[in-house]
Amino acid sequence: MIILGIETSCDETAAAVVTSERVILANIVYSQVRDHSPYGGVVPEVAARSHVEHLDGLISEAINQAGVKFSTLDGVAATAGPGLLGGVMVGLVTGKTIAAVSNAPFLAINHLEGHALSIRLVDSVEFPYLLLLVSGGHCQLLLVNAVGKYRRLGTTVDDAVGEAFDKAAKLLGLGYPGGPAIERAALSGTAGNVVLPRPMMGRPNCHFSFSGLKTALWQAVSDASQQRGECDISDFAAEFQEAVGDVLVDRSAHAVELIKNEQQKVHQFVVAGGVAANTYLRRRLHTFADGVGLTFHAPPSRLCTDNGAMIAWAGVERLSRGLVDSLDVSPRARWPLDPNASAAIGSGGKG
Ligand code: KG4
Ligand code: ZN
Repeated sequence: MIILGIETSCDETAAAVVTSERVILANIVYSQVRDHSPYGGVVPEVAARSHVEHLDGLISEAINQAGVKFSTLDGVAATAGPGLLGGVMVGLVTGKTIAAVSNAPFLAINHLEGHALSIRLVDSVEFPYLLLLVSGGHCQLLLVNAVGKYRRLGTTVDDAVGEAFDKAAKLLGLGYPGGPAIERAALSGTAGNVVLPRPMMGRPNCHFSFSGLKTALWQAVSDASQQRGECDISDFAAEFQEAVGDVLVDRSAHAVELIKNEQQKVHQFVVAGGVAANTYLRRRLHTFADGVGLTFHAPPSRLCTDNGAMIAWAGVERLSRGLVDSLDVSPRARWPLDPNASAAIGSGGKG
């Protein structure tokens, strides 16, 4: 099977061609970072216009690079949500059109399912597995039982972890996107020279919270600059990254405990999403997995951040199970992987 995958849910315009034999024939990503960096974050209107401008050219390039034709595609997969609606609409309508004119099945992909299954494009990980999904829009622990069958064990009650990296970097004057910038700055800093909290650590559930960490960082930076007139940005970056690592490990440990208490047999721990590109966090989570007797799996960095290959692969997984969609699917701003998960806090839902 040869599947075209289209991704436009946030600030990456991406197209890829992937086979059911796990061969990535093309995987092209146009990052809109430069369009958004003057604003210090993603501007939805700017993102949607940029997708319109770049998507057609990217798809042609991917098709040419893969050496295939539209008419020989076995399926067309496009992200249908969750994400910024304007962008999702661009990719979705483009994917539907190509599917219609190519007479190929159409696959409306949940972006989170793209991240959740991305590991299986590069590694033979069988179901079920414990997944830590860490991205700019989400931070969740999930039990991945099968394609389309997810149980959410925990989620963030406020900011997503990537969002926290981005806000912390902005606060430290490190620019956008924040994750890679903090990781770089942290290399020359020392965690512990300043002290930040570890929100939610030790709590008896699997939820996360990051907005307090960001506020504590802001407070610590302004205290330090008042006292000494200057502060070492790299020390703050290192402490922030370590705090995130401590929290991710602690919450994942709770998820493992919960699974064990329920006597479920899970042997693999998978980390995916943009934040999983972070080398320090990967190392921390790998060590954790070794310690609790789970095998550790994370996609290569280029498949952690948003890309079309993971969408095409989710298309492979769905098409091979006969899960085809009609052309009247609507774009969705919100689309939880586990529709039965109750709200993590109050009556709202972060999903
Ligand atoms: O998965 P992704 O590309 O998009 C979403 O689905 O949200 O994740 C983007 C997020 C951004 O917040 C970015 O700062 C973060 O992933 N990120 C990182 C790293 N690379 C990207 N965070 C920490 N360390 C990194 N190396
Ligand atoms: Zn993503």
